[in-house]
Amino acid sequence: MIDMKRSEKDIEKWWNDNASGFQRDAKISTKTINWGVHTPYDNKLKLLTNVKGKKIIEVGCGGGQISIFLAKKGANCTGIDLSEKELDYAKNLAKIEKVNVNFLKGSFQDLSRFKKNSFDIAVSSWAFQYSPNLNKLFKEVYKIIKPNGIFIFSMPHPFYEIMDSKTHKIKYSYFKTGRYENIDVWQDGSKHKFVGFHVKVSDIYNALIDAGFYVEKIIEPVSLKDGSVKWEDFPKELSKLIGPSIIFKTRK
Ligand SMILES: C[S@@+](CC[C@H](N)C(=O)[O-])C[C@H]1O[C@@H](n2cnc3c(N)ncnc32)[C@H](O)[C@@H]1O
Repeated sequence: MIDMKRSEKDIEKWWNDNASGFQRDAKISTKTINWGVHTPYDNKLKLLTNVKGKKIIEVGCGGGQISIFLAKKGANCTGIDLSEKELDYAKNLAKIEKVNVNFLKGSFQDLSRFKKNSFDIAVSSWAFQYSPNLNKLFKEVYKIIKPNGIFIFSMPHPFYEIMDSKTHKIKYSYFKTGRYENIDVWQDGSKHKFVGFHVKVSDIYNALIDAGFYVEKIIEPVSLKDGSVKWEDFPKELSKLIGPSIIFKTRK
């Protein structure tokens, strides 16, 4: 049985510790949508167009770049994230870019603070690997978006997650799902507990269907030029074999 609150505390701490280093290294653009490492930007994929006047929620918004981009296009955006430090970065960036975004601290596992059927669109990029329960998360999103509303998200591709980035061999069984943790040692020698959750592609798809979503598209794109993060865990050689991201475009 997963202790959700304890996992959230670990994830929140990891992101508070990591926020400034991540934002410094990732340099995520606010000129388009970044769907993840080695993944085409949305000016190529064109998954989210015509957002003017739309009410949009970004869940797991991190540094807020997607919300800021969409706000610049005339959308009314709300961003929610667990990490205070990520939100501080997002609020400052919105000020620099001279847009208004409603950035809020909270977990995407509980969206009950928002009215039912109140958003046109929900969006998320590379945050759901931290969800202890995709079924609950997708049900929460389903409640707050309007009928016919769009829900688009990217997350690490479960096939990529099981690969060793150096040897290109499978590290562990694809069927070994659930919580995992590593102790990361950073360059300054400090130790940080990283918590995440492994899922199968079918877990994601079935959780969407169980929540009531209609899946319009599953996209598994690769672009070695796009997607800001260029860390050693994502070598181009492996990304040529398996794209690091999977994207779902769904509708209520
Ligand atoms: C890899 S970052 C991605 C951030 C942003 N979407 C982007 O593309 O840069 C993952 C983010 O998910 C957030 N997160 C993790 N678990 C969360 C939860 N339960 N509720 C809300 N945010 C969460 C983290 O705090 C972090 O900011």
